[in-house]
Amino acid sequence: MGKTCVYYNIMKEKKKGVLMTNQNLPLNVVRVEKSGNRFNAWDTNGVKQTSSITTVTRRKAFEGDYLLGEFVQKNGKHYWRKWEGEVAPTTEKNSTVEIPSDHEEVLNFIHSSYSLKPKGLMMSELKWKYLIRSAVRGKNIMMTGPAGCGKTMAAKSVVNSLDRPDFYFNLGATQDPRGTLIGNTHFEKNKGTYFSESLFVKAIQTEGAVILLDELSRAHPDAWNILMTVLDYGQRYLRLDEQDNQATIKVAAGVTFVATANIGNEYTSTRVMDKALMDRFTIVEMDVLSEDDENQLLNYMFPNVGAALLANVAKIASLTRVESNSDSARISSGISTRTTVELCGLLYDGFNLEESSEVSIYPQYSAVGGVDSERTFVKQIVQKFCDDGSSDELFNEEEMAEAADGADVS
Ligand SMILES: Nc1ncnc2c1ncn2[C@@H]1O[C@H](COP(=O)(O)OP(=O)(O)OP(=O)(O)O)[C@@H](O)[C@H]1O
Ligand SMILES: [Mg+2]
Repeated sequence: MGKTCVYYNIMKEKKKGVLMTNQNLPLNVVRVEKSGNRFNAWDTNGVKQTSSITTVTRRKAFEGDYLLGEFVQKNGKHYWRKWEGEVAPTTEKNSTVEIPSDHEEVLNFIHSSYSLKPKGLMMSELKWKYLIRSAVRGKNIMMTGPAGCGKTMAAKSVVNSLDRPDFYFNLGATQDPRGTLIGNTHFEKNKGTYFSESLFVKAIQTEGAVILLDELSRAHPDAWNILMTVLDYGQRYLRLDEQDNQATIKVAAGVTFVATANIGNEYTSTRVMDKALMDRFTIVEMDVLSEDDENQLLNYMFPNVGAALLANVAKIASLTRVESNSDSARISSGISTRTTVELCGLLYDGFNLEESSEVSIYPQYSAVGGVDSERTFVKQIVQKFCDDGSSDELFNEEEMAEAADGADVS
């Protein structure tokens, strides 16, 4: 009874807006559970809050077996810390999905799923619904797009929206694809030779699991070879030993794979992916944000940074993106959303636009070629938006208008 009362009071105060000024009561409370190799956070309404809390905070809460509360700092920023109050999150998970089997229910689910998208992820309704639909239909999904456009974020968000066991593997970071995907053979004097299977082997045997294969495009070709049969709808097995054709593990029913890939971008460490492997995926292309969407996202994330300043950041990013896509491009890539978010974090911490750009944007562009370098070009764009206005005009009004039109079209 105590629990219900505290919770009820919190909700009541939340509605009245009182809670914003009360530093002692959390806005929300979560309990962390382990699912696969991820630590998921469930709030009192059974809503998954995993993506709004850092992995370290969630892991510590799980290991320390305590609840986390969401608090607001004086500057408006939200953060999570240990909460020792009485509110216990419900174990009912009502905002996530038990995948429906009836066709009409499936349709309803897909078409009302936009509400499951986290607010902080900017993605069109169509793309999000397509992503959810592919997951619900058990497709292998591959999120593609240039660096820092939200592929990993979208993939994690869709995984968070589905109430299914989830596993995360960063294939771009592993130097040992066999060890990560299959396992290792060990030798001990008294035991002799034995095989310890990988977490991936466990993951694919978990019915209904959603398995995230992050940075698949950067994986070692051995990883692609191993995954070939796993991803093939007609085969769906993992061969434990490539030399000996006998030992295979079947992929359990309802397992969904969600991969991310940087396709055709500037990163040299991204290997050109095998066509046969690509063919095994349904491609969901992440859109690079338009100037408007970028502006909206930055305003949502940084309510305490001036709107005019944020609009300038969105404009700078958009100008570089349009330029990098033009036939006579003077730069090879546009400024990513990851970078604009980082830059606005610096603005929030009191650095000015010039300083923030110098540390977050310029190092990404080559200085080779001096005044004709990519870096000089980007610097000139940024300086146009810096306060003193002393820089030479790089773009006239007409060019700016053209760039803005281009951004709307793309
Ligand atoms: N569409 C978006 N909506 C909201 N935030 C975004 C979006 N795209 C990028 N971001 C911001 O940029 C950060 C990096 O995004 P993310 O890691 O998903 O990029 P990525 O496409 O996976 O990049 P990479 O190709 O380098 O793996 C996010 O944490 C987020 O702050
Ligand atoms: Mg990524």
